[in-house]
Amino acid sequence: MLYSDKVMDHFTHPRNVGTIENADGIGEVGNPKCGDIMRIYLKIDNDIITDVKFSTFGCGSAIASSSMATEMIKGKPLSQALELTNKAVVEALDGLPAHKLHCSVLAEEAVKAAVKDYYDKNGIEYDHEKFAQKHDCEHCGE
Ligand code: FES
Repeated sequence: MLYSDKVMDHFTHPRNVGTIENADGIGEVGNPKCGDIMRIYLKIDNDIITDVKFSTFGCGSAIASSSMATEMIKGKPLSQALELTNKAVVEALDGLPAHKLHCSVLAEEAVKAAVKDYYDKNGIEYDHEKFAQKHDCEHCGE
């Protein structure tokens, strides 16, 4: 079986799909390899992610990864969301095939971009290091 039960579950029943009106932060990233696009919307209250939604024009693995990522950051402080790695998402999904690892990177980057958007819009200082791209995806070489 190429995909784990968890991947199939999150692909066929993705959590937190949609958009948020008046979102506090929106992150959009694209995967240059396949052209897929991922958007994450955050509602933030007192540094806590009170709601999160995603929409994607992406493959099944990207959908499953984003669904899992949104579940992992919902109700969590921003500091924790920024620590979410694509590796943690893949582990939570019980793995992805090697050639699909890059799809999970979209989820990590979209979360970071949404937090950054929130910081930028509100003039909040942040450590730019945290947004440097250093995901764990041996195949894309980025
Ligand atoms: Fe494009 Fe998976 S093939 S994100």
